[in-house]
Amino acid sequence: MIDDIDRIMSVMAQAFDPHWGEAWNRRQIGDALLLPATGYILADASGQWPAEGRDAAAFALTRQTLDEAELLLIAVVPQERGRGLGRIVLEQVIAAVRGRGAAKLFLEMRHNNPAEHLYRALGFVPVGRRPAYYRLADGSRLDAVTFALAL
Ligand SMILES: CC(C)(COP(=O)(O)OP(=O)(O)OC[C@H]1O[C@@H](n2cnc3c(N)ncnc32)[C@H](O)[C@@H]1OP(=O)(O)O)[C@@H](O)C(=O)NCCC(=O)NCCS
Repeated sequence: MIDDIDRIMSVMAQAFDPHWGEAWNRRQIGDALLLPATGYILADASGQWPAEGRDAAAFALTRQTLDEAELLLIAVVPQERGRGLGRIVLEQVIAAVRGRGAAKLFLEMRHNNPAEHLYRALGFVPVGRRPAYYRLADGSRLDAVTFALAL
């Protein structure tokens, strides 16, 4: 497990621009993974679960309560972007939560995150908005948009 937290944190450190304040710290990840409702996926550049001791190029973190699942985080290291890896990982997330009985998958993103292209490509639709929900590193605020996918 420690090894998987290391692999998640390595992708986290590379993938999230500190400006947006979206990255989780190691303690937040460790605490989340103690909960049985939390699931995660690791992938290497080809979309396979990385072999033991090998770095990950992408990860996703989910939470599920009964038939409702939430995508908490998804990230691909910058050098592997734009080649379909984010899509592969999100498809793996969808299959995993569906397999555990989810009927809906939710996610929340800051308004204007380019990840919206990926979410819409897989069928997510916007279902809500929280004004000024995110506080950025420079103190400014951005709306959160909630997307949902019926499974
Ligand atoms: C969002 C993210 C995971 C996408 O990973 P990726 O491997 O580049 O995504 P893919 O190559 O699978 O792209 C999937 C689709 O989204 C589109 N897309 C992805 N990023 C895009 C961008 N920045 N601008 C426009 N379109 C984009 C692709 O064109 C593709 O569409 P298509 O299948 O119709 O061609 C990656 O950019 C990332 O890690 N971002 C930083 C972390 C983050 O913001 N995560 C989301 C919030 S938790």
